[in-house]
Amino acid sequence: MSYEQIKEAASLISNKYSEKPTIGLILGSGLGVLADEIESPVKIPYESIPNFPISTVEGHAGQLVIGSLQGVNVVAMQGRFHYYEGYSLKEVTFPVRVMKELGIETLIVTNAAGGINENFEAGDLMLIRDHINNMGTNPLIGRNDERLGVRFPDMSEAYNKDLRTLAIRVAGDLNIKLQEGVYVGNSGPSYETPAEVRALRILGGDAVGMSTVPEVIVARHTGLNVLGISCISNMAAGILDQPLSHEEVIETTERVKMNFLNLVKTIVSNIHTS
Ligand code: HPA
Repeated sequence: MSYEQIKEAASLISNKYSEKPTIGLILGSGLGVLADEIESPVKIPYESIPNFPISTVEGHAGQLVIGSLQGVNVVAMQGRFHYYEGYSLKEVTFPVRVMKELGIETLIVTNAAGGINENFEAGDLMLIRDHINNMGTNPLIGRNDERLGVRFPDMSEAYNKDLRTLAIRVAGDLNIKLQEGVYVGNSGPSYETPAEVRALRILGGDAVGMSTVPEVIVARHTGLNVLGISCISNMAAGILDQPLSHEEVIETTERVKMNFLNLVKTIVSNIHTS
């Protein structure tokens, strides 16, 4: 995916929405409802954007929604691309490059994840403090285009400290319980075995999912500040005596969506003014 392809996609979007978005949002499984809160939205289906891949998984609408959230110009991805769908990590992360080209400075990434930390419970929200790339690959492999970022990007503060502090303050003000922890990105699509979940806990993971890590690596490469929030949709395999299902993931995100919406919307309005 080249710089020219990024520019081509961004220019089509700019033709449909002339104002510059300052915040990008990637909405995970069951969390796409946040895009419905955007006022005077311009909705652009992924298939109408040049060079964009097309989303296939259940619970993902597959469009960009651009407009005003809490008075802030945002661009939201309602549905994301996953490695397990068969896309390369360059394709998975292409929209992040396009949002950067549109002018965003901050990226808010969200996902549904399984809880590894036994102090968590299904329905908790978790602020991502850091991540572990367990996908076995990296979106930056290949020739580096210096116009997009440096060859060896620093990942020592992948999830911006000031944004994390803001999220904790906002959650406190709104009386929303916010856990904090390390997100492990696995390729999926099979859920983990209980042995893998025990191994990931020893490695330092608090939650596990099948997304986010590639997008955050590219966001850092391209100089965006990142905030990440997971919805703990289930406890990871082997913790409770029950099988995992995508239905449970969607049911839980549905149950916590009011808190999730309030938290993210209030964070968005405070990023703007701080
Ligand atoms: N594992 C991996 N990905 C997930 C999970 C899980 O338990 N829940 C939601 N996404």
